[in-house]
Amino acid sequence: VTSSRESHATAGSAARTICIFGAGDHGHVVAEAAELAGLRVLGFFDDRATASPLQRWPLLPTPATFDADTHVIVAIGDNAMREAVTLDLLGRGAILTNVIHPRAFVSPSAIVGAGVFVGPLAVAHTDAKLSDGVIVNSGAIVEHHCIIENFAHIAPGAALAGRVRVGQRTLVGIGASVRPAITIGCDAIIGAGAAVVRDVPDGETQTGVPATTRS
Ligand SMILES: CC(C)(COP(=O)(O)OP(=O)(O)OC[C@H]1O[C@@H](n2cnc3c(N)ncnc32)[C@H](O)[C@@H]1OP(=O)(O)O)[C@@H](O)C(=O)NCCC(=O)NCCS
Repeated sequence: VTSSRESHATAGSAARTICIFGAGDHGHVVAEAAELAGLRVLGFFDDRATASPLQRWPLLPTPATFDADTHVIVAIGDNAMREAVTLDLLGRGAILTNVIHPRAFVSPSAIVGAGVFVGPLAVAHTDAKLSDGVIVNSGAIVEHHCIIENFAHIAPGAALAGRVRVGQRTLVGIGASVRPAITIGCDAIIGAGAAVVRDVPDGETQTGVPATTRS
């Protein structure tokens, strides 16, 4: 997957029409944000879903291969699953697009990869890097010079101080806070409301204030 220095409302490709893989709650959040950002949402791909009356966009058959006109974002909350589905779709020719809510702030100096979602009132500040498949959810703050690696998820209201690094597929839980220049490894989970004051190794789950490893 590619990364590029783009940060505009519809960065990632010039798509005006998109499809969303994943018809669940997160899919609906992404669809609504996409429309507010001026994109046209054709519908959802989701082999597991059945159409429901609450679904505001149609379920579409998932194509075996994708043509150059189909721009897709994978809206699956589980980080490992989002990565696996994204890699599979790329192998079948899909072009990834980003969805940046129009009320998010993404600095012009931020680097934004492909397949990235940034929710309402979220911030990605000066020289931050959001790698491919990253979610910066509602109201989350990714401060200056942070690096968020592929398929990590910064949950609603989490706050990362400057120069924090978050590894691939890591979840920083809702409302967590992370001190400046901390490194959190890959496949880690930071529990809701935790305060991270020391580096976190790969694969660890930490909770509490200050955050400690769960046994
Ligand atoms: C940390 C976490 C992964 C633990 O999940 P779990 O293993 O299923 O935990 P449980 O719900 O079984 O709780 C086990 C114990 O941990 C405590 N606990 C759970 N989450 C906690 C947290 N974030 N901080 C402090 N304690 C926590 C529970 O109170 C419970 O304590 P008890 O045994 O004394 O009753 C999870 O609670 C969490 O915080 N996930 C983040 C969710 C999130 O932000 N998602 C993003 C949504 S967009």
